[in-house]
Amino acid sequence: MNVSLRSTPALLNMSGNMPPKVPPVFNEAYRLAAQRVLADFEPNDLIGAHQFCGSERDRAAGARFVSRRLPEVPSVDRIVVANGTQSILVMLLAGLVGRGRQLVLEALSYPTIRTFADQLGFGLSPVPMDEEGALPDAFEEVCRADRPAAYYAMPTLQNPTTATMTIERRRTIAKICQRYGVAIIEDDIYSLLPREVPPPLSAFAPELSWYVLGTAKSMAPALKVAYVVAPTAAAATERFWPGVRATYWMCAPMNASVVSTLIETGGSDRIIEAIRVETRARQAIVAERLVDADLRTRPDCLHAWLSLPNSRPASDFLADVRALGIDVGASSTFAIGDIAPPNAIRFGTGTPRDRAAFERGLDAIVKVYLK
Ligand SMILES: Cc1ncc(COP(=O)(O)O)c(C=O)c1O
Repeated sequence: MNVSLRSTPALLNMSGNMPPKVPPVFNEAYRLAAQRVLADFEPNDLIGAHQFCGSERDRAAGARFVSRRLPEVPSVDRIVVANGTQSILVMLLAGLVGRGRQLVLEALSYPTIRTFADQLGFGLSPVPMDEEGALPDAFEEVCRADRPAAYYAMPTLQNPTTATMTIERRRTIAKICQRYGVAIIEDDIYSLLPREVPPPLSAFAPELSWYVLGTAKSMAPALKVAYVVAPTAAAATERFWPGVRATYWMCAPMNASVVSTLIETGGSDRIIEAIRVETRARQAIVAERLVDADLRTRPDCLHAWLSLPNSRPASDFLADVRALGIDVGASSTFAIGDIAPPNAIRFGTGTPRDRAAFERGLDAIVKVYLK
């Protein structure tokens, strides 16, 4: 038995960027939805057979959910229900990009994409960025030189930098994708908390776009339900029909059903609003305590990107907050390709269990920052 490991006190996780728990609202909405599913459906009908791309009802609920962001409700046959965004990404990256081809993405991005590139054998073409995300000229240059098959896009509250593209930037990037025939895989997972955000990139090039909207960051990470809108019904079938590659991406029907009921009855709206309110309250405290810091975030963002002075390497900062029992994320975690990561850290606001734990963690970050 490893006594020293067992006696190590647990670090407070502020490196993740999960949504805050909102127990009174979530518990009531989820219980009601789960009870209603069990009352309205015969369990053996619901669960007794595969529902490959999602049942008709679940796909219709998905169409309604994504229409929170898209200009119109997409037809149900363009929707696929999956057990989370990562599953959708694996299917799309394997099908649209695949071994030996290139994926273009921002130079700092969701690190899981690197894992998928290693597993699936495609290359990564990172693009330098400003506070909106990919720089258009550099993006076009990569499209010309590397001929990427697809762009992994996160134009709203980008992970990790919180970069958000203006409508103008979205239009420009979409046009470049059209010019070079680059498919768009848009991961819009952080878009539901802000009240005012531009329309998705996909709205500017729908014929090339795979629009992905998961519930992990707006409702709960372990719901394991995400929706993808394919450019056409035929494309949805071509990429996701169960005979295509693996089938592990399918959503368990009970999960899909409960989320469908949450969407149909407004339970999802109540959960999202409660998470928004708690996130804004935590972000107000961040803004107050880190008032003069070089901090990039938004009132309804689940993470913040803190640049450090050159005299304070991120690795030292990480070690100092760790010594105070807090875990935050290093910028190197998010670096794509050979770029030198900026001297910065990312911390999440939602993962500490309650406001008191969050303030304890933030106090430690502020203390180390001001040292
Ligand atoms: C950009 C992005 N996409 C997807 C996910 C995970 O989504 P899921 O749990 O639905 O696979 C994360 C989680 O950190 C993320 O940051």
